[in-house]
Amino acid sequence: MRLHCDGMSAKELPTAPPTSIARAGLRAYQLALRAAERALPAEFALLLKIAAFSTTQLLHVAAKFRVADHLDAGPRTGAELAVLTGANEDALYRAMRALISEGVFAFDESGRFVNNRLSDTLRSGVIASMRDTADYFGSRSNVQAWADIDETMRTGEPGFNRVHGMSCWDWFSKHPDEGEVFAGAMTSLTEQSAKQISTGYNFGQHGVVCDIAGGRGTLLSEVLREHRSCRGMLFDAGYVLDLAAPYLRERGVFDRVDRVAGSFFESAPKGADLYMMKDILHDWDDERSLTILRNIRTAMRPGAHLLLAEFLVEDRTTLMPGPFIDVHMMMATDGGRQRSEHEFGALLTQTGFRPIKTHPCAAISLVEAMAV
Ligand SMILES: C[S@@+](CC[C@H](N)C(=O)[O-])C[C@H]1O[C@@H](n2cnc3c(N)ncnc32)[C@H](O)[C@@H]1O
Repeated sequence: MRLHCDGMSAKELPTAPPTSIARAGLRAYQLALRAAERALPAEFALLLKIAAFSTTQLLHVAAKFRVADHLDAGPRTGAELAVLTGANEDALYRAMRALISEGVFAFDESGRFVNNRLSDTLRSGVIASMRDTADYFGSRSNVQAWADIDETMRTGEPGFNRVHGMSCWDWFSKHPDEGEVFAGAMTSLTEQSAKQISTGYNFGQHGVVCDIAGGRGTLLSEVLREHRSCRGMLFDAGYVLDLAAPYLRERGVFDRVDRVAGSFFESAPKGADLYMMKDILHDWDDERSLTILRNIRTAMRPGAHLLLAEFLVEDRTTLMPGPFIDVHMMMATDGGRQRSEHEFGALLTQTGFRPIKTHPCAAISLVEAMAV
């Protein structure tokens, strides 16, 4: 189910499949791909992967030129689409034909371009829109960091800081357009799992839920909509909280959320019963993760709970998307990585927490701990 955000009524996120079905779906997809590859010569099957970066770049331009938005009104010829997008007609036609060969967009019977199931998700303003995500992955700053992967392989150093001379967070605050695209990408990625997380854990047992580095408040909004007795605190950098206000209004929870600006390297807000962090420790190395956890622990009363929402990656994990996100963290952040349940346990016990339980939630997991 996908609904347009009309700004008038609180938008609903898609209902999520149960964890077992979601994980079985991912495994089935990987098995089907392996089976399809066996229909091809091995060299050609590999060539398709070698050239896969071009798909990333083509999806980036489709997002940037808002092709899916223009096709939302109906089929367009190449010439019409070029006028609407401001793109060169020949270049756009060739890009679109290549994307169609990848299963994104389609030709209608008279050769005009139309949206299909996948390209529909590239439209702006739909729930979990992938437009910002496609824009971000193919963005110059991200691709330049990835282009330096040989050096990361030699040294183990993260890519982004070496190439750009600053962390991606400093980069986003200095390049607000890119910061907004990244925040939009995180919003849509979190919208895909927020329903599963908010129904996969009993948030209702806690009064005040604080989302540390919660971005626009995507997950917090869904938690508050699902658990009406809870109040929320949203903690993030000031420029991100500015972007959060309209989102919280749109989700109908603005009045139930205190927004607190700050840095988790300095402190965390006091007074919540549950602190949560989704996709945060995966941005940082162990040393800085320990600092973040210590600062949160200092803000917490003994007995308060902490929930880490992360894609767990054990030594031999091959289930998507954990291993891919792990290498993306290596190239695009300042020392981030995906971790195993055991690695999270070690970070938590060093910082005054007792791990309680891990709750699988579709592909992501919730690692729960208590402040001791
Ligand atoms: C990967 S995003 C995750 C956002 C959100 N938790 C989600 O899953 O949708 C990382 C977030 O960390 C925030 N962040 C980065 N450095 C921070 C800092 N020093 N203090 C507080 N937040 C920070 C960013 O602004 C961003 O919103």
